[in-house]
Amino acid sequence: MDALTIRHADIGDLDACCRIESACFSPSEAASRASIDTRIKIFPQGFMVAARDARVIGQINSGATDQDDITDEPFKQLIGHVPDGKHLVVFSLSVLPDYRGQGIAACLLRRFVKRAEEDGRKAILLLCKTGLIEYYQRFGFVDRGRSASTHGGADWHEMALILGEK
Ligand SMILES: CC(C)(COP(=O)(O)OP(=O)(O)OC[C@H]1O[C@@H](n2cnc3c(N)ncnc32)[C@H](O)[C@@H]1OP(=O)(O)O)[C@@H](O)C(=O)NCCC(=O)NCCS
Repeated sequence: MDALTIRHADIGDLDACCRIESACFSPSEAASRASIDTRIKIFPQGFMVAARDARVIGQINSGATDQDDITDEPFKQLIGHVPDGKHLVVFSLSVLPDYRGQGIAACLLRRFVKRAEEDGRKAILLLCKTGLIEYYQRFGFVDRGRSASTHGGADWHEMALILGEK
């Protein structure tokens, strides 16, 4: 098996990232092709993919902001994105079903955190469902409680990883 490659996304990854998004989220939760296109074009620094055998199989993407409120829907299309913002907000961490349970999301997340630290970001914020709270806690995220977001009709928790606190 080829080694896993983690790299920043480019526009040639658009089709693969859309396929991952729709394989990993329900239609009401999945980002549109237009949103993913925007995220790759506007903020490739905050968009990483995992590839094996030259096939893109996982992704993490984000926007940057100085705001604490991460429930803002237009922000997911990077409306209000501030490239040097102190917070990175993760929109999607997703791995194709056939490749799960091999630490691929963990590799993406660790590389993403490293880059955020190198760039001097203050925190990484995200919303997750209750079942994934413990997963993010393994990486140092803290549960800030239930979010006001009702995205896709689900219950979400706000998770925060404060950087520079080691
Ligand atoms: C969550 C996700 C990205 C993990 O990808 P992965 O590459 O399998 O992750 P890792 O190999 O690093 O870790 C696997 C661990 O994740 C945890 N996990 C994954 N999905 C989970 C879920 N729905 N509920 C609870 N735990 C879950 C488990 O602890 C699992 O451990 P195991 O391998 O011992 O079973 C992947 O399952 C996925 O794409 N899910 C659908 C999209 C999603 O919900 N993304 C998170 C948005 S907040």
